[in-house]
Amino acid sequence: MVEELSLKKWNWWPLFPLYPYGYKKTICKEIVSDEVWSIEQIQGLYYVAVPIRMTVMRVKNGLMLINPLPPTKELINELHKLISRFGDIKTIILPTASGLEHKIGLPALSRIFKDAEIWLCPGQWSFPINLPLDFLGIPSKRTKILFEDGIPYQDECFWLSLGPINLGLGRFQEVSCFHKSTGILHVTDAIVAIDKNPPDIFDYDPTPLLFHARDRGDEILEDTIESRRKGWARLVLFASFLRPGKLQIPSLRHIIKYSFRKGFRNKKFHYGIYPFLWEKDWEKSLIGIMGSDSPKIQIAPVLKKLIFPRSDKVLCKWLNDVKNIEGLKYFVSAHYSSPVEFSKNDCENLINQINSKEWKLSNDDDKFLSNFYKKLYELGVIPENINI
Ligand SMILES: [Fe+2]
Repeated sequence: MVEELSLKKWNWWPLFPLYPYGYKKTICKEIVSDEVWSIEQIQGLYYVAVPIRMTVMRVKNGLMLINPLPPTKELINELHKLISRFGDIKTIILPTASGLEHKIGLPALSRIFKDAEIWLCPGQWSFPINLPLDFLGIPSKRTKILFEDGIPYQDECFWLSLGPINLGLGRFQEVSCFHKSTGILHVTDAIVAIDKNPPDIFDYDPTPLLFHARDRGDEILEDTIESRRKGWARLVLFASFLRPGKLQIPSLRHIIKYSFRKGFRNKKFHYGIYPFLWEKDWEKSLIGIMGSDSPKIQIAPVLKKLIFPRSDKVLCKWLNDVKNIEGLKYFVSAHYSSPVEFSKNDCENLINQINSKEWKLSNDDDKFLSNFYKKLYELGVIPENINI
């Protein structure tokens, strides 16, 4: 057990304190035989945890990692299994300028793979002050910037940019990589496909699902397929809207009434505290974002409301570029289901949605994010001009 736990240990968790904090389970799945692999962990807050993915692609004489993850021993062991068959980690790609959750593992990963070349999305920024790369733990001597210093593996990959979009404090930009031999487009946060079934990594510990499948803090965690699905659906709503429209925050009196009951006074149950109240028809909010037969392809809901309200043209331009890629078959994203079949028609559908009247409308689920965006805009944090 101790041995087992030490494989999952991640000592740098206080830098970005997300669940499951100091111990992170890692799983590795082959996406395309002998070509592409998905390495997954989960991360989140207060059991609101969603999977995050690092993609491994086979390239000339070795392997390329896209979107670094915290390198626990378990993750390194998985990589060594691939290295022994396909060669060294030649390249590590950080394809996003703003996604902090994808940056946090890079310094430690680059210290382990000392010979790997590092390629970054242009416009890396840190808050509250912009620090040089070495201060952020990224070795500048072997680091290059995508497009500005060229692009890696031109024969095997096609690289295209979404953005930049000026956010004021920094920029939103992500670089997509099309892997020609497999027909896979790698994206980071822009597009996701959400399934009704919880991802496999929750099989290791379904606690976050079961915790949120309840309605009160004094209910036991019941492990059934239904409760796992119910919990997953609620996690998706939290992750998509931060405060879903059908979620109420109960009074302190209500919360206390059902907290600290006998048998629940421990960390696993968060001492019986469950500070949420779901309305009876909460599942209605899933209609637009969760597929019933297959994962639903969509622009990530949080980005739709926080990044793209002023920049739908930039998004459509990128989708048009994607649409014109010869041999496009699938996408792999850094969150949710992957690989997902993805065609010119899917691109066209997304473009039509973005250009429709409904795209700009806000419903109850969007209210929290829309108001947050409006506040930032009114305060001048988000500038009027989207160009860098
Ligand atoms: Fe992300």
